Amino acid sequence: MRSRTVGSVGRRSGLGRLASLGLLAVVLAGCSAAPTPEVTTGDAVLEQGRDVYIRQCASCHGSDGTGGRGTKFTDGAIVAAYPEVADQVAVVAEGKGSMPAFGGRLEEGELEAVVRYTREVLAVAE
Ligand code: HEC
Repeated sequence: MRSRTVGSVGRRSGLGRLASLGLLAVVLAGCSAAPTPEVTTGDAVLEQGRDVYIRQCASCHGSDGTGGRGTKFTDGAIVAAYPEVADQVAVVAEGKGSMPAFGGRLEEGELEAVVRYTREVLAVAE
């Protein structure tokens, strides 16, 4: 009698725990952002570019570069549209449509670093 009561309590709380884990998983899946690809080459400039990307670009272009309010970087279309890195740096500096201008907010080195990160890491991540 006693052990049956304990057993059923145990089962119930086990189920409850399972249900709340399930709920947690749903909540996490709903709002968690995909990871921002790491720089695996040890290139310090790309590391800096990744930091800038996370702080300044991910909110619109997606934490993993798959787009959102801003264009997707992972399919290589932007690299194809801007064969020259300098032209892409200029667009980021000057802005385009609802894309803000970053020229006054980021140093030239930061602009180049983040553009290289989108081209050399994000564009090849897919
Ligand atoms: C407030 C949202 C927002 C932020 C923040 C943002 N972008 Fe964008 N970005 C956009 C939008 C919207 C477009 C599409 C603009 C268009 O084609 O009219 C775009 C387009 C681009 C393009 C492609 C331009 C083209 O010719 O198609 C590049 C490159 C780009 N963004 C880079 C960046 C970088 C690098 C950062 C961070 C330093 C950044 N963006 C931050 C919204 C944003």
